[in-house]
Amino acid sequence: MTKKDITEENKEDVNNGGYDAPSNVNEVEVINTYELEEKAKEVVPKGGFDYMSGASGDEFTLQQNTKVWDKKGILPRVLADVEFQETSTSIFGQELKVPFVMSPIAAHGLAHQTKEAGTARGIAEFGGSIMSISAYSGASFSEIEEGLKDNKRWFQIYMSKDDEMNKNIIDEAKADGASAIILTADATLGGNRDRDDRNKFVYPFGMPIVSRYLKGDAKNMSLNNIYAQSKQKISTDDVHFLKEPE
Ligand SMILES: Cc1cc2nc3c(=O)[nH]c(=O)nc-3n(C[C@H](O)[C@H](O)[C@H](O)COP(=O)(O)O)c2cc1C
Repeated sequence: MTKKDITEENKEDVNNGGYDAPSNVNEVEVINTYELEEKAKEVVPKGGFDYMSGASGDEFTLQQNTKVWDKKGILPRVLADVEFQETSTSIFGQELKVPFVMSPIAAHGLAHQTKEAGTARGIAEFGGSIMSISAYSGASFSEIEEGLKDNKRWFQIYMSKDDEMNKNIIDEAKADGASAIILTADATLGGNRDRDDRNKFVYPFGMPIVSRYLKGDAKNMSLNNIYAQSKQKISTDDVHFLKEPE
């Protein structure tokens, strides 16, 4: 499978119903994450790849993040008996094999046709981490469960302006087994995402979890349009509300 270049002729197809996410399931040799990104670029349609790897505001902060990480050093501890290495830890009382979780990421279906269920399957097979389900998931809770199979999960919410909707969503996430709720408070508005603008990027499929509060179901909608319909007036009151929605 090769990446799809966007031309004037196929622009609509690539970004809309004809979005051609990969369906293959292969063993991939991962030497490092930079190479993994290159491999993804070969198979993921350009609109989706740019959405996933791009950023807003001239991508200044994206570049800055990488630069700052490059400046971090590791302080070696020698003579420390490293015969048996141990990466396991726990968070909120849940045991993890590794000190990281799957962060909430919108629209996995841009990367693979199995959507969030495919990612969930990977997490479940690994068995020692937590899947964070994004409110902007392209799959429903029950579709994700097909891959997740009782594995631990958290739920991330982009709040609606309507608290009744928020309560419904949180109730559904809890019924699905979420053991923590992540409130995203630092992304309440869209940004200037040049790559998405250039590609005229819109989501090629719906978002069942948030579609209940959107005008439309997210299919063929831009990220900015979806963000605009979410809640901007977020405060500590919302944290209390999410803890105990009335
Ligand atoms: C393509 C993409 C989609 C994302 N979608 C969401 C999302 O739906 N909800 C959310 O809270 N954060 C989302 N994030 C933010 C990530 O969860 C994470 O906080 C951020 O990428 C920083 O972690 P990193 O430095 O490991 O990338 C997204 C990030 C990326 C790159």
